[in-house]
Amino acid sequence: MKEDDREQTYDFDVIHERRGTNSAKWDGTPHPDILPMWIADMDFAVLPEIQEALGHRVQHGIFGYAWPDDSYREAVCGWMKRRHDLEIRPEWIQCSNGVVTALKTAIQAWTEPGDEVAVITPVYYPFYKSIEGNGRIVRPLSLTLRDGQYILEDEELRKLDGAKLLLFCNPHNPAGKVWTRQEQEKIADACRRYDVKVVSDEIHGDFIRPGVRMVPFWNAAPDARDWSILCTAPSKTFNLAALWTSNILIANDDMRKAFALVMDRNGAGNPNIFGIDACRAAYTFGDDWVDSLNAYIDSNFRFMKNYLLTELPQLQMIEPQGTYLAWVDCRALGMDASQLETFMKEKARLLLDEGVIFGQAGAGFERFNVACPRSVLKQALDQLRDAVRELDLQAD
Ligand SMILES: Cc1ncc(COP(=O)(O)O)c(C=O)c1O
Repeated sequence: MKEDDREQTYDFDVIHERRGTNSAKWDGTPHPDILPMWIADMDFAVLPEIQEALGHRVQHGIFGYAWPDDSYREAVCGWMKRRHDLEIRPEWIQCSNGVVTALKTAIQAWTEPGDEVAVITPVYYPFYKSIEGNGRIVRPLSLTLRDGQYILEDEELRKLDGAKLLLFCNPHNPAGKVWTRQEQEKIADACRRYDVKVVSDEIHGDFIRPGVRMVPFWNAAPDARDWSILCTAPSKTFNLAALWTSNILIANDDMRKAFALVMDRNGAGNPNIFGIDACRAAYTFGDDWVDSLNAYIDSNFRFMKNYLLTELPQLQMIEPQGTYLAWVDCRALGMDASQLETFMKEKARLLLDEGVIFGQAGAGFERFNVACPRSVLKQALDQLRDAVRELDLQAD
């Protein structure tokens, strides 16, 4: 399809039946009448050009080992430049079977068992598992919730002293925080001072709300190219998670070699041929689709915020600046973490990501995935409202 002929409008209201499709989100939900709003994939069909590219590959009928060729690398470089004003060289791209695999690889490549690896909590739970599962120790820096927004106090940065690596979630999952240039400069200063390498996980970097700017870590601290890596992927942005294709950007030659060696040792570096096709199509044709998607997600966030204000004032959504994840403070319901989980599942009939899995500071919170048609989001909120009302009636 030529670029000019493309249909520019996309319909994110369409409901696609995902039950019975081996979907972890839908088929992995314990009961068919529980609505899944948990794992971070979207209930939207992918960009038509991706479907077309995959269709061509299926018709070709041969699925041997894949090779990320020049056109693939150029598509990745073009996307980073257009969307994030990030200049990268094609040879810096190291393919990985997912970003979590890259986190584990980085931990193995640049730290030793017993070393401390820093994270900023509450944070995406595989960060902890990647550190502890590799025999390293978690060094937590805490976000502070102030006036409805998460901030990292300057004194927390001192806790980087002694850590070997920082797993930086940029934008931040689950808080939906998009780190500013100034905040990242402070983090980079501390990492320089304490000689801490950084893995900046930028997988959510394409989901940015109006008026907010995504600043890749390398643009906040250009010298950080020498001591940090960026984890990028089309998987969240274009709903391609199960194609297991991520692009890890490593500018420093020695770091790239060390990373590739560990990848090879673990047998994890071969790209997926469907992932290559999908990523190339996404990064070549996907700009308008992502803009429309971001507008839809933004309106879902606004819908949810308004709904909570009017129907469920006990719950407070932390205003997200990016991602498609709503982090909701449910502490006013007065339940401990396990009661809250049972309430959500058994009374509201919702499967959410329990706040406590993101760290103790997340206890009493719930993470809602709002990358779904508005009608599904409304149904989830109606179920929650009815369950809370019932709770209030019982208390009277
Ligand atoms: C911050 C973050 N990193 C990584 C991942 C998962 O990446 P992958 O599926 O490529 O391993 C997620 C998924 O939700 C995420 O939120």
